[in-house]
Amino acid sequence: MKKLIVPVLLSSLAFAAPSMAAHPMCGKTELADVMGDMKDQMKAVKKAAKSGDIAKVTAIANELLASVDKADQYVPLVISDKKELNATQQADFKDYQNGIKFLKGAVTDLASAKDIGAIKMALGKIGKASKKGHKAFKMDCDK
Ligand code: HEM
Repeated sequence: MKKLIVPVLLSSLAFAAPSMAAHPMCGKTELADVMGDMKDQMKAVKKAAKSGDIAKVTAIANELLASVDKADQYVPLVISDKKELNATQQADFKDYQNGIKFLKGAVTDLASAKDIGAIKMALGKIGKASKKGHKAFKMDCDK
């Protein structure tokens, strides 16, 4: 009997794994879309910084600012998948918005940076904001 159960259990686990995503909307929300845009903008801004094109860094940083303002309006999936939030969720959303506010400060630094040193400092701050924000609010789609 045991001999049969173990392989059956193992194979059912193998088949169950792909459907074990944290949430059917994980990675498919409007916020995930905005974050995807931010990723592209960060890639472009790093390229411009590398080539020393400060005017281009400023221009992309301003696009990034518009994305950050959009991100401020969406509730992370890990907090809720509904528009109506209870008191706890509202408090969590405020925390999220504080993280976005910190990011906005860093991106504002980037938009006003006049030399490579200031650009590098701002990029470091953006990296920190992103790491902290994801640790606290980004759902792991594979779990
Ligand atoms: C420039 C900085 C940032 C970049 C480039 C960035 C990029 C990304 C990317 C690529 C994803 C995955 C999207 C997908 O699944 O397709 C993501 C998801 C996410 N990020 Fe960011 N991120 C940044 C900053 C932040 C900050 C500061 C926070 C929070 C304060 C944050 C919160 C989230 C959340 C909550 C998700 C999951 C989306 C959802 O809940 O539907 N991110 N981000």
